[in-house]
Amino acid sequence: MKFDTPAAGVYPELIYPPYKSTLKRGPSQPLLRLVAPQPVRQNIAPSPRIFLPHDMDLTAQGASEPLGEKIVVTGRVLDEDGKPVRNSLLEVWQCNAAGRYRHKRDQHNAPLDPNFSGWGKMLTDDDGRYRFVTIKPGPYPWGNHDKAWRPAHIHFSLFGNVYAQRLVTQMYFPSDPLFDYDPIFQSVADPAARQRLISRFSLEHTVGDQMLGYEFDIVLRGRDATPMDQ
Ligand SMILES: [Fe+2]
Repeated sequence: MKFDTPAAGVYPELIYPPYKSTLKRGPSQPLLRLVAPQPVRQNIAPSPRIFLPHDMDLTAQGASEPLGEKIVVTGRVLDEDGKPVRNSLLEVWQCNAAGRYRHKRDQHNAPLDPNFSGWGKMLTDDDGRYRFVTIKPGPYPWGNHDKAWRPAHIHFSLFGNVYAQRLVTQMYFPSDPLFDYDPIFQSVADPAARQRLISRFSLEHTVGDQMLGYEFDIVLRGRDATPMDQ
């Protein structure tokens, strides 16, 4: 798996003033390209021992089911030629249905759910596919500006064949009314690239009367690259 810089407008600007914290953390000097002193070791698949029984079902980690709308999210991790990326370690994290993360820095006035940690992880299979069951996350306020609410989203981290290769992005849900007002979503300049951050409703992956399905493919680079957090 190689990670290259995609076309202009696909990755968010490092400094995007409407997204206030980028003003403090964005680089003030030109970027330097780091060159590895020796070839990076490849094909080191993550050990299956790092997985817990319910890492792929975030609704099964507590004493009982968490509150909210149960959903299944699936998709494929692909390279620029559309070939599957196998054995990629995916981690996901999200807030609960009420829009609250289980994290001490999240003091949003919304309830925690004792049955929902918001963390999961999995490997892609030989077809590059991942799949996990969760609760649809709620929108939450984040204080960036007046009436600043994030559209509902799930954070994704992808590791390549070595832990030094890591990409982070966010998946959104179709037709969210907050897209137009979210500086993080809007920090991706290319409108077509922004659309690639939005999952698709999938009747095919909907599970009977249990849960609706959403599909979200992740393309690592090339013309159809998924925008990644910088
Ligand atoms: Fe978030």
